[in-house]
Amino acid sequence: TKRVVSGIQPTGNLHLGNYLGAIRNWVRMQDEVAREGGECFFFLADLHAITVYNDPKELARNVRSMAAALIAAGVDPAKSTLFNQAAVSAHAELGWILNCTARIGWLNRMTQFKEKSGKNREGASIGLFAYPVLQAADVLIYRATHVPVGEDQKQHLELARDIATKFNTDYETELFVLPEPMIPASAARIMSLRDGSAKMSKSDPSDMSRINLTDDADTITAKIRKAKTDADPLPANPAGLEGRPEAKNLVGIYAALADTGAADVLARFEGQGFGAFKPALAELVVETLGPISARLSELERDPGELDRILAHGAAKARAAAEPVVAVAYASLGLTRET
Ligand code: TYM
Repeated sequence: TKRVVSGIQPTGNLHLGNYLGAIRNWVRMQDEVAREGGECFFFLADLHAITVYNDPKELARNVRSMAAALIAAGVDPAKSTLFNQAAVSAHAELGWILNCTARIGWLNRMTQFKEKSGKNREGASIGLFAYPVLQAADVLIYRATHVPVGEDQKQHLELARDIATKFNTDYETELFVLPEPMIPASAARIMSLRDGSAKMSKSDPSDMSRINLTDDADTITAKIRKAKTDADPLPANPAGLEGRPEAKNLVGIYAALADTGAADVLARFEGQGFGAFKPALAELVVETLGPISARLSELERDPGELDRILAHGAAKARAAAEPVVAVAYASLGLTRET
C-alpha cells in the first residue's frame, strides 16, 4: 500500500508554483490512496523555516495560514493527516540520528544550499546546510513510498534514498523504505513571471514575480499582463519554444491548468501574440484560484478549527512516527528506558 508524505515551508504565501508543482498532486493522490487503504501525511515544515531567521510571531501565524491554504486547495483533513512538523518531536530526533549517517560530501553536492547561502556560505546556519537530512527524516520516519514534490526537491529525495540505504546497511535492518519522488510531467518547475531563468519562489523580493493563491482577479490579470515575454507570436509546436524561456513558462502554466500538454495549447494559439494569449491565461488562472482563495478566507475566520485540525493531525502523525524512531534508536544500541 502507498504511504504518501510531503511538506511545504510555512513562509509567505502559497503560490502557483507550489500549487501546480506539488499541492495539486497531493490532492489528486489523497482519494486514490485512501481508496487503496494507504495513507497520506502532509505537513507544514516549520523546523525547516527556522534555518534562516524567521520572526517568531510571523512563523506562528504562517503555520496556521499555510494550513488553511492547503485545506482550501483541497487537502482534506478527514482523508489526509495534516500537521506541523514541530508538533511531532520524532522528526527532530530522527533528524539527529540521520545527521550521523549522512556524509558531509553528500551535502556538499546539494545545489539548493549553494543557492540559498549565496556568497555568505561561512555565515549560513548549520541547519541550512543540514536541512536535507531533516527532510530525509521527514519522509523516512513514515516509511513513505511516494513523495509528491516539484523538480527542485528531486536532489533532496535522492539524498534521502542514499541515507536510507546506508542506515539499513550499517545497522543490518530494513527499517527504512526507499521513497519514490513523484514529479509532475508538466509544471514541475514554474518560473518567475519576471525572469524565465529563475524559479517562481516565495522568497523573490518582487511580488510581481509570482501569483499568490490570495491574489484577487485584478492582481492576477495585471501580473500576467506585465509578465516578461518576447515579441514573437506563439509557435506551432513545443520545439519552437526552445530559447524562449518566458514564453515556454506561460505556455507551460496554461497547459498545466488546462490539464493538457504544450502541443495542445499551441495548436490553439499558434500564430497569436501575447496580447491574445495573456488574457486567456489570466482567465484560466483566475478560474482555478478564485474558488480556492474564497475557501481560504472562510477558513481563516475560524482559527480555533484550524488548531483542532492540526492537533488531531499531530496526534495521528506521532502515533505513526514514534514506533519507527524507537526501532531506529534500538538499532543503534541507544537505550531510552532504564
Ligand atoms: P517549498 O516550501 O519550497 O515548496 C513546497 C513544494 O512546492 C514545490 N515548488 C515548486 N514546484 C514547481 N515550480 C515552482 N516554482 C515551485 N516552487 C516550489 C516544491 O518542489 C515543493 O514540493 N524542502 C521542502 C519542504 C519539505 C519537504 C519535506 C518536501 C520539507 N520536508 C519532505 C517533501 C518531503 C521545501 O522547502 O519546499
